[in-house]
Amino acid sequence: MPQKYYLWTVGCQMNKADSEKLAAGFERLGLKSTEHIERADIVVINTCSVRQRSEDRAYSKLGRVRELKAEKPALKVAVMGCMVGLKTGDLEKRFPQVDVFARPQQFEPIMELVEGKAEDLGGEFWPSTYAVPEGPTAYVPVVHGCNKFCTYCIVPYRRGREKSRPMDEIVREVAYLTAHGVREVTLLGQTVEAYGHDLPGEPDLGDLMRELSALERLHRIRFLTSYPRDMTRRILEAVAALPKVMECFSLPVQAGSDAVLESMRRGYTKAEYLGKIAEVRQLMPAAGITTDIIVGYPGETDADFAETAALLEDLRFDKVHVAAYSPRPGTIAWRKMPDDVPAAVKAARLHRVEEIEARISHELNEALVGTTQEILVEGIKNGQPFGRTRAGHLVHLDATARVGALVDVRIAHAGAFSLRGDPIDALTLA
Ligand code: SAH
Ligand code: SF4
Ligand code: F3S
Repeated sequence: MPQKYYLWTVGCQMNKADSEKLAAGFERLGLKSTEHIERADIVVINTCSVRQRSEDRAYSKLGRVRELKAEKPALKVAVMGCMVGLKTGDLEKRFPQVDVFARPQQFEPIMELVEGKAEDLGGEFWPSTYAVPEGPTAYVPVVHGCNKFCTYCIVPYRRGREKSRPMDEIVREVAYLTAHGVREVTLLGQTVEAYGHDLPGEPDLGDLMRELSALERLHRIRFLTSYPRDMTRRILEAVAALPKVMECFSLPVQAGSDAVLESMRRGYTKAEYLGKIAEVRQLMPAAGITTDIIVGYPGETDADFAETAALLEDLRFDKVHVAAYSPRPGTIAWRKMPDDVPAAVKAARLHRVEEIEARISHELNEALVGTTQEILVEGIKNGQPFGRTRAGHLVHLDATARVGALVDVRIAHAGAFSLRGDPIDALTLA
């Protein structure tokens, strides 16, 4: 009977992409996935450290794994991802039942848990093992790590410095994906426009998008996460000019006050951020723009927060991801700044951002009623096909449509989180 693996993932798209790659490696060795942790021979917990709450989720999962290992000593357990730093001593002490701690993308020690099979991969697990696509959309990491060192953020400590994948390697991976039914890829990087500066000839994200646009079976290209300083005019012009690249930006601002932005070492002022948004909207008036906000950063006053709230009212983002500041051991903010905003104030500010966001995104959704939008059908849920507009809005369709097809949809109804509509035309029967 084939060995079974159980893979549990939290965190960002990059972590999900890593898990998919690990799964592809397991499948290549003949393992089968299971949804039931009790039936697994190998358990892998892929962790995130971005906030305490993400770590707590992994800890509670590891509590369950501890019980299982006591019942079944042959069970192999790996913990991978951003909770695993350079030193694993503390984690090892706390969780002696874990066989392997692996840093992000350190797949080899996990593959070695598969009995007698590691050599079968011929040392080529990365980069030639591609994730098996599960539908018409896929994540493709293009630049790993981050060089920015925002004071609050653990990511550069856990994922290392920016490292771009060679363009031909990415093109090969996307060609493989499209041959297996993928029609839309999301290019991933913590600061995705940093792509290429460390490669020979210094291609940029726009050059990569141009290469990928030539792949016939690929319909759509998305990209995440944008960083205002790296987002050049040249890249924006490529996004605007290439029909396969979606006008959809995830452009975290984090705060609306210059004092907070400077303390965070975000590398831009509010005015510079506003300038970037203006540039995006001038080139692409229908662009969808989402953002991230941290409330309760050390020293954030009521007046600072009022500037964040005003910025949200002013810029009217399609979606806002908001989080309360969580001190991350090892970061600059953790070392130098007391976590001085009371929990109740953080909660009130978080709630205020959520209120603003719900109202504005509903209004923006309502403004789309009556328009025609191009949708890529991504899947079917409860019998209803769903997909996203070019700008990134989620739409449920009131008729049958084939997964992977591009359809024109007349938007009939707007809710707070999604839209509903009827297909009026199948643009492409891919
Ligand atoms: N590279 C992206 C974000 C990566 S982390 C950027 O530059 O914005 C994803 C989001 O988690 C961040 O945008 C931020 O809003 C949030 N985040 C990161 N560290 C945090 C912390 N210590 N406390 C609360 N939220 C945090
Ligand atoms: Fe973290 Fe800042 Fe890098 Fe984003 S840009 S991953 S917030 S250090
Ligand atoms: Fe979390 Fe690591 Fe992503 S800390 S958000 S999984 S890069």
